[in-house]
Amino acid sequence: MSNIDEIIRQRRSVFPPQYNDKPIAKEFIIKLLENANWAPTHRLTEPWRFKVLQGNAKDKLGKFLSDTYTDITTDEAFSPFKHKKIINNCKSAQVIIAICIQRDLKQRVPEWEEIASTAMAVQNMWLTCAANDVGCYWSSPKLIEYMGDFFDFEEGERCLGFFYMGYYDKEEDLDSKRGAAMEKVKWLE
Ligand SMILES: Cc1cc2nc3c(=O)[nH]c(=O)nc-3n(C[C@H](O)[C@H](O)[C@H](O)COP(=O)(O)O)c2cc1C
Repeated sequence: MSNIDEIIRQRRSVFPPQYNDKPIAKEFIIKLLENANWAPTHRLTEPWRFKVLQGNAKDKLGKFLSDTYTDITTDEAFSPFKHKKIINNCKSAQVIIAICIQRDLKQRVPEWEEIASTAMAVQNMWLTCAANDVGCYWSSPKLIEYMGDFFDFEEGERCLGFFYMGYYDKEEDLDSKRGAAMEKVKWLE
């Protein structure tokens, strides 16, 4: 297998409770964001926007998300476990990158193409993490709908999720399952 095949197949979602305390260097975060910026983009709209949260900013996000969860959840549905998990995830991650998208204001391409481009940028980040033994995953809770109350969004900008990052102890077994690739393919000749 070539190096790229291995990186693609070994990439995994690694969750905040699995992260250790090792800091992530700023140089690495910049490399990640530079790699994201090389995603393909129809009509070069380059719709991906990222907000990098570290230190205190992560705690503020944890408070905002947990408070919002409390506000939008009925008493019967409220889970103290989930509330605490939201806060702890923000604490355990070394870095959280808010994955945002700014729709081309002239709407020259359909929105799905902008979302697809942004997802490809995120895959570049995810593979960069995988190649450097940094754990990460894309989280997309319903709470992202409220991120306009936390960030100063530009016109047409919104949040598609959070990219949690942290080093982890490599001896952990990171399982992932897939159905057979060829079951999803039709060959026409
Ligand atoms: C757009 C997107 C949103 C996701 N949102 C969540 C999420 O909210 N919670 C979660 O646990 N995993 C989320 N994931 C990660 C998937 O659960 C994960 O990729 C899948 O289980 C396969 O595992 P693997 O990434 O280790 O191969 C998301 C992945 C993508 C691509």
